[in-house]
Amino acid sequence: MKQPIQIAILISGSGSNLQAIIDHQKQHPQDYEIALVISNKADAYGLIRAQNSCIPTEVIDHTLFKSRESFDQTLQQTIDKRQIDLIVLAGFMRILTPQFTQHFLGKMINIHPSLLPKYTGLNTHQRALEAGDTEHGLSIHFVTPELDSGPVILQAKVPVTPQDTEKSLKAKVHQQEHQAYPKVIEWFAVGKLSFQDNQAWFEQTPLSKPQQLNALNDHPI
Ligand code: GRF
Repeated sequence: MKQPIQIAILISGSGSNLQAIIDHQKQHPQDYEIALVISNKADAYGLIRAQNSCIPTEVIDHTLFKSRESFDQTLQQTIDKRQIDLIVLAGFMRILTPQFTQHFLGKMINIHPSLLPKYTGLNTHQRALEAGDTEHGLSIHFVTPELDSGPVILQAKVPVTPQDTEKSLKAKVHQQEHQAYPKVIEWFAVGKLSFQDNQAWFEQTPLSKPQQLNALNDHPI
């Protein structure tokens, strides 16, 4: 029988996505194991979530490093010490060096709260509101050296209403994130999803456009 893949999850804060992945893992223990949770902040609530589920944690405080490169090197060594198959960025608020992203190319995914290529970077909900967008959402993508620009695997859309505030929109997106991220991790774990020639591949075919979570709910794959 196939062994579960080993994943490392990198966080900086609340870790609600981490919690969704932990909860999903408990239902699918044959697919993946969470070998390690790393935070660059000692007070990240996600560390408590991991510890509550007996998952090993490490804090690597970026403020103790002289350069981005030296922080990333320690991060890389910490991950390489374990046999990690997939690195999951879940609210990890650090820009990663090209050396680091290259080292883990095809083995690292990120969740970003916008419909990429719209709104890379920060304050995505506010920017969607200010632009008068009628839909907003999230993207899950393979990480490449350019920020928030790797091949997109899956998106989920939410409607923006005239009543929406930054807070309400963020809550809607979060709710979708918690369904979307475990699903993508599972795809990777069972070999449905891969990275080849700088593209995301799904079931041995390059994805010409991202999968849509809402469409999947109607027609589960
Ligand atoms: C999410 O909105 C994710 O898209 C972004 O950071 C946030 C993390 O939230 N990258 P949480 O810590 O998982 O609650």
